[in-house]
Amino acid sequence: MAGYTPMMQQYLRIKADYKDAFLFFRLGDFYEMFFEDALKATKELEITLTSKNAGVEEKVPMCGVPYHSADNYIKTLVSRGYKVAICEQVEDPKTAKGVVKREVVQLITPGTVMENGMLDEKENNYLAAVTENEDSTYSLVYHDLSTGENRAALLEGGFDGLLSELYNQPVREIVISEGLSAELQEALRVRLGVTLSYQEMNSTSMSQEKLIGDVTDTRLLECFAMLLNYVERTQKRGLDHLKPLQVMELKHFMTLDMYSKRNLELTETILKKGKHGSLLWVLDDTVTAMGARMLKKWLERPLLQKEAITRRQDLVQAFLDHFFERDTIRQHLQSVYDIERLSGRVAFGNVNARDLLQLKRTLEKLPELKQVLSGFEEEEVQRIGRKLNPLPDLCAYLESSLHEDAPISVREGGILKDGFHDQLDTYRDASRNGKQWIAALEQREREETGIKSLKVGYNKVFGYYIEITRANLHLLPEGKYERKQTLSNAERFITPELKEKEALILEAQEKSVDLEYSLFMEIRDHVKTYIPALQQLADQISQLDVLQSFAEVSEKQRYARPTFNLDRSVSITEGRHPVIEKVMKSGEFVPNDVQMKNDADILLITGPNMSGKSTYMRQVALTSIMAQIGCFVPCEAADLPLFDQIFTRIGAADDLVSGQSTFMVEMLESRHALEHATDKSLILLDEIGRGTSTYDGMALAQAIIEYVHDNIHAKTLFSTHYHELTSLEENLSKLRNVHVRAEEHDGNVVFLHQIREGAADESYGIHVAKLAKLPDSLIERASHILKDLEGQDEDAMVPSPGQEQEDVQLSFFAAPAVETETRKQDSRADKVITELTSINLMEQTPLEAMNLLYKLQQMAVKK
Ligand SMILES: Nc1ncnc2c1ncn2[C@@H]1O[C@H](COP(=O)(O)OP(=O)(O)OP(=O)(O)O)[C@@H](O)[C@H]1O
Ligand SMILES: [Mg+2]
Repeated sequence: MAGYTPMMQQYLRIKADYKDAFLFFRLGDFYEMFFEDALKATKELEITLTSKNAGVEEKVPMCGVPYHSADNYIKTLVSRGYKVAICEQVEDPKTAKGVVKREVVQLITPGTVMENGMLDEKENNYLAAVTENEDSTYSLVYHDLSTGENRAALLEGGFDGLLSELYNQPVREIVISEGLSAELQEALRVRLGVTLSYQEMNSTSMSQEKLIGDVTDTRLLECFAMLLNYVERTQKRGLDHLKPLQVMELKHFMTLDMYSKRNLELTETILKKGKHGSLLWVLDDTVTAMGARMLKKWLERPLLQKEAITRRQDLVQAFLDHFFERDTIRQHLQSVYDIERLSGRVAFGNVNARDLLQLKRTLEKLPELKQVLSGFEEEEVQRIGRKLNPLPDLCAYLESSLHEDAPISVREGGILKDGFHDQLDTYRDASRNGKQWIAALEQREREETGIKSLKVGYNKVFGYYIEITRANLHLLPEGKYERKQTLSNAERFITPELKEKEALILEAQEKSVDLEYSLFMEIRDHVKTYIPALQQLADQISQLDVLQSFAEVSEKQRYARPTFNLDRSVSITEGRHPVIEKVMKSGEFVPNDVQMKNDADILLITGPNMSGKSTYMRQVALTSIMAQIGCFVPCEAADLPLFDQIFTRIGAADDLVSGQSTFMVEMLESRHALEHATDKSLILLDEIGRGTSTYDGMALAQAIIEYVHDNIHAKTLFSTHYHELTSLEENLSKLRNVHVRAEEHDGNVVFLHQIREGAADESYGIHVAKLAKLPDSLIERASHILKDLEGQDEDAMVPSPGQEQEDVQLSFFAAPAVETETRKQDSRADKVITELTSINLMEQTPLEAMNLLYKLQQMAVKK
């Protein structure tokens, strides 16, 4: 550091504590960045790089942003996952001796942003903390600084379980200890794309006992303490709005693993990563931002207890039955402000008068809302109304204090009403009287001088002055006023009495603005005492909003109220896919029944490409999820079990980030399902085995079906193109074949999208290829090949389960039933070639290669 100017030394000292953040170093009207920070910031923010003399030979790279527009720059950096340390001058530069004292007053990180405009209003913004426990469980705490929420859970499913839990949650940043294994850290960073922050465990102490609530599990408390320590260290501000820690008993909710959350597109679509096209998009008819956030939370945690679900359903039913009342409720909710986040900002000390006015307007509306709710005949709705506390005291207090047109700034006055505070009224009178006096003076001087255009003006440099245009100057008696300033077409003057009054006015004004500011701080502190009440209100309103949204959507989309049974029976009449039917024109979607009673655990679905197999499977899962969050469901009637978990293996969603191949992901997802599913679970397996060679794939598919059938007994929907598998129905008592109907007309396939019992008789892949407009000659050739193959496969058979097979792959196809020797040879050659070309040499071990070679040889010599 030697050689640097004192200021640069100060910079380096502070920067040493904030190595992983951009240090915004306040210099006058700018925040400056130096060295590496400057180089990085010019790239990220597209601002000009300059340099500064810092006492040493080489100039130091520097760039800066004006402090009044810093918010946007901070927002950009934070949204890209960076942290920003705000370093302010903490003493008055005028009175400072030597270098002005500076300190970091706040560290803004992706998980702790509070600033308006930096948060997505319809989504929580979580800072999480993760610790690994000795019993190999993980502790996880979610914290939302903007709403004060604190929730903890103990995760038992190992690292996979942790990732599944965190997946799709709006977590921006995770606090961990440096001791967490490097592998885990890397996985969190890469797979979840979050910012990692470190807080040492050994320094943790619980500074805020009241936040512990009634949690006693030390594993959770340690993790929570680590998180709080981090928040306190970085925020250095009031945290009065934090709510006591709540423990989430994960076993009370349906488990949706990472794959299902992604594949079912609950809150975002796989391809575009947006809400549009997701289930959330269909279900979100909430009016308030708080409601939208709550809906997302509900959707990610479907319930398992029938009573809790029924309670929600009853409320939805009530809102559904009362269209007009619901409409009124929606109107009232329109004027409800985001009081949940407001509470956070009150605690943090960055609300202005406009925010509090919004709060007042919200409270003013609540009595009407209460009245509507108590008008319902349903007891449960009345109860919600009764519990809603419109905080009349607070409302009256805000009404009596805040001026309706208060400005955004809290430092310019004009916030408070006349009559709210005596001293303030006195100052205001003084300043008003002074202004009246000046108006009178202007009038008097005009008369005395006869100059009609004479006017009294004010500016910040000269204060009050009398201005006379050049053309009228000759009318002014010499020496009447004191000359102050000459403009091109006018002269400005002052008089001693004008200056005297000016001093009085300005003093009164300054005092009144100062007083207003400190009074506003008092008001803010007073509002602070209402934070718990406001948070409770926010919670009640959010729930109300979600439930009315369910009713609204259920009515618009003609959903039906599902019932639940305990005998694992699925019965859906005329079910629909909620998302696809919404994007289709009305009436276009073909409804289908789903029947999986006691005698059917597995539905094996066959049918041509594009016929609707995947759609059918997904609609069962989405319907169950909707049912278990308390919403009504897309069908005419449904009787459902309460699924404890849903597992999916759908589509080719390559997991490139984790470096897994398509087939590997397919196997991982299947393993995950087979490992965790119970007889109360729902499993969707969409074309398992598609990603490998036909024999391999079919063998795996059959083995998986048998395993599920014999060992797991979960309700399972299995779609496949391997028609051979349909004969499994003969041996597996709880397997049912269904197929999607399609018809052929004049060589073209017509998709009917209707599910029927039994197996499909034909594959229409080539027709789909035709629809996709592949070259005619190619289609013809394919039809030709197909005919040949069908000729060979007449005797194709599937080995029955349990039957020992030396080589399952080969035994799928018995010797082809064709007459001429040449055709036999041709087809053998074809098979060998197909097999050969499908081998990925890079993935073979020498031993595997030997085996393959043996197999190929067998195929070639076979008679
Ligand atoms: N019940 C239905 N009513 C109307 N249209 C449907 C229905 N089911 C599916 N579709 C339409 O057919 C398209 C294809 O459906 P889906 O992807 O489910 O077919 P698939 O049988 O799984 O095809 P593949 O075998 O190629 O995977 C859907 O995108 C949708 O537009
Ligand atoms: Mg499909």
